[in-house]
Amino acid sequence: MTMKTMMRAACLAVFAALTIGEPVLADEAAPKMVSGKDIVLDRGKGNCMACHEIPGIPENILPGNFGPALAGVKERYPDKSALRARIWNEASFQPNTSMPPFGKHHILTEDEINKVTDFIYGL
Ligand code: HEC
Repeated sequence: MTMKTMMRAACLAVFAALTIGEPVLADEAAPKMVSGKDIVLDRGKGNCMACHEIPGIPENILPGNFGPALAGVKERYPDKSALRARIWNEASFQPNTSMPPFGKHHILTEDEINKVTDFIYGL
């Protein structure tokens, strides 16, 4: 191997390390913030839209109507912890409900439920 080829190989290695390494470092430095709204809309998380109409959400194209529309929730649940309890396990209020027990069955983490509760409470 000539000196020139060795230098070229070294440069390529550095270049590759920089270009491949960069995005990983960037992701670690700035973790994505997931909002309550993100969790509500995420089909793999809350998927609340499958059963509830949520007014004011532009993504709200074809909401389900299994459950009541989640509007004016604050008036119906002045106590936010009462709202959270329903999201945690609706079955303790309506034993035959089809709503998944998000907290009881660990579908969402406690922190995710807090974010969802805050978002729904503000509707
Ligand atoms: C599979 C359908 C389904 C999904 C998914 C679902 N729900 Fe429900 N939800 C219901 C039904 C049905 C009720 C009404 C209780 C009953 O009679 O079963 C309900 C009731 C509620 C209530 C209390 C009723 C009220 O408005 O007074 C809240 C709050 C609620 N859901 C929030 C949510 C949130 C937030 C999500 C997403 C994290 C969600 N639901 C996901 C079906 C669902």
